[in-house]
Amino acid sequence: MSPKATRIVLALAAFLVGLALFLSAALLLGGRSGNQAVAAIGGPFSLTDQDGRTFTQDNLKGKPHLIFFGFTHCPDVCPTALFEMSELLRSLDKDGDRIGAVFITVDPERDTPTVMKDYLSSFDPRLRGLTGDPAAVATVEKAYRVYSKKVPTQGGDYTMDHTAIVYLMDKNGQFVRPFDLKRKPEEAAADLRKYF
Ligand code: NI
Repeated sequence: MSPKATRIVLALAAFLVGLALFLSAALLLGGRSGNQAVAAIGGPFSLTDQDGRTFTQDNLKGKPHLIFFGFTHCPDVCPTALFEMSELLRSLDKDGDRIGAVFITVDPERDTPTVMKDYLSSFDPRLRGLTGDPAAVATVEKAYRVYSKKVPTQGGDYTMDHTAIVYLMDKNGQFVRPFDLKRKPEEAAADLRKYF
């Protein structure tokens, strides 16, 4: 595998291991159902969208949401995921208004609302891009158990390793499961319709 692919697999593995540990702990401690334990992904946050509007966990309520964490300088994984989300929205057509699609930066240093707005102009206009100060971004990353790490590159630049999972949240703002975008947009759309 390429180093990039290896990093993606590692980030995914780290997330899954974390999730598995969390689930076992929850089951051991309270004998709770898996659903209740999984629902613990997510939580309060306050960020700003690409139009300068505040977006909090309350904005997730009322319709199902897909949430993806990434950064605008990402060479491949993020633009691919955002392209797939755009195709999904296009496939849903008007029903695309019945879901929310959210891109949250893990690179608040570079991804200002203006940068996010410019970047997202290449994708479906219904995508919301969220950023904030580093502390606000750290809060949302922790709530969603997102792994992200700055990796220096040549010339004093840097890239970000990050969890590349699409979170499906139901219309009550509760985490359901990771959402698979690697399929035909029509199939993904049919899956999402179950959560309207
Ligand atoms: Ni990325």
